[in-house]
Amino acid sequence: MLTGKHIALYVSGGIAVYKAATLVRTLIKRGAEVRVALTQGATAFVTPLTFQTLSKHDVYTDRFKQFDAEHVAHIDLADWSDLAIVAPATADVIGKMANGITDDFVTTALLATTAPKFVAPAMNNHMLASAAVQRNLKQLQADGVTLIDPETGFLAEGYEGKGRLPEPETIADFVEVALLQQAPNLPFAGKQFVITAGGTQEKIDPVRYITNKSSGKMGYALAVAARDLGAKVTLITASDLPNPFGMTVVQAPSAEEMAQQVFDRFQASDVVIMAAAISDYRPVQPATEKIKKQAGHQELVLTLTETPDILAQLGQTKQHQLVIGFAAETQHLLDNAAQKLARKQADMLIANDVAAANVGFDYDTNAVTILRPQEAPLKLPLASKTVIAQQIMEIIRQMRFNA
Ligand SMILES: Cc1cc2nc3c(=O)[nH]c(=O)nc-3n(C[C@H](O)[C@H](O)[C@H](O)COP(=O)(O)O)c2cc1C
Repeated sequence: MLTGKHIALYVSGGIAVYKAATLVRTLIKRGAEVRVALTQGATAFVTPLTFQTLSKHDVYTDRFKQFDAEHVAHIDLADWSDLAIVAPATADVIGKMANGITDDFVTTALLATTAPKFVAPAMNNHMLASAAVQRNLKQLQADGVTLIDPETGFLAEGYEGKGRLPEPETIADFVEVALLQQAPNLPFAGKQFVITAGGTQEKIDPVRYITNKSSGKMGYALAVAARDLGAKVTLITASDLPNPFGMTVVQAPSAEEMAQQVFDRFQASDVVIMAAAISDYRPVQPATEKIKKQAGHQELVLTLTETPDILAQLGQTKQHQLVIGFAAETQHLLDNAAQKLARKQADMLIANDVAAANVGFDYDTNAVTILRPQEAPLKLPLASKTVIAQQIMEIIRQMRFNA
């Protein structure tokens, strides 16, 4: 949350300056107080009046202009701020920051502030890829600055490339998550969580596959909930939902790929949650060319073979890890789930009745029953997947990380 935070927004002279005006609004809407400093370059694109009106504060543009005799303006802003955001950050400002050059208000205040710094580079893709800019960005990271990765898309130059300033909402989300993760005493701080999500796709031929109705929403909600409690999350996904911030996201479209990714990380993990709907079977031999319709053949036989049983292998080989599975059932929910819990030697099984209204695949809501060895089933009634994920994290915390 940004409520009550003092944010200094440093704006430099790139074409994306127009987005910085909306960013002021977005940060204020999220509860922050914002003060803005502009480079001379930035004032060539947008006047200080825009930022003054939006932030309801004087705007800093000139290092030798002092607003009152008692305070040196750049030190005043540097000391006032809880965090500093540079957006857009030009190649020029990045270079100056990386080398301690202070030849205007923005760079002088940035050097003087001890607040956490977030830098959002925005420039032409070739400028961004240049050796000098890459060297300077690495230096900033080494100096403890958090970079907000530029996006790939349509550039002002009229062609596609990496270098776009992310949308203001995205920048605000990024900053919120980063601040949250820096908070002290988070229950999962330093713990490695591996979470799978989405329905796998098992290739029939180059254009067809077998899949299921899983959207990945529950797995993503779990990943976000674990991240917000300080975990280092690797989300292994077969879904194309947008990547959440503050975690490693690995695409694994098929059961085989998912198995490989999970097994590779198992040893180093503390908690593994298998929320993906992994196909139990896959075509034995996917066709290398598109399968054609054959005249006179009313039936086509696909031969399937079993995919790796990831949960069972984790259950058999676990040492210190907490292994959690999901059971999506359409009948005899608790009996089937209890059998699965024992068969897979999991530490927890989260059962959901996907035949019930508003539950399971593709919905934003879920209702689950938590099964654990030697414990009575625990029902979590219908709620958003976000809330269900937070409740599951609380149960994990009590089971393993109860300080
Ligand atoms: C139309 C125009 C657009 C520009 N866009 C960018 C940009 O997106 N990113 C960048 O790093 N520089 C861009 N530049 C170059 C900077 O404006 C230039 O390097 C300037 O010296 C930056 O000054 P500042 O960093 O003090 O704001 C642009 C220049 C012009 C004329």
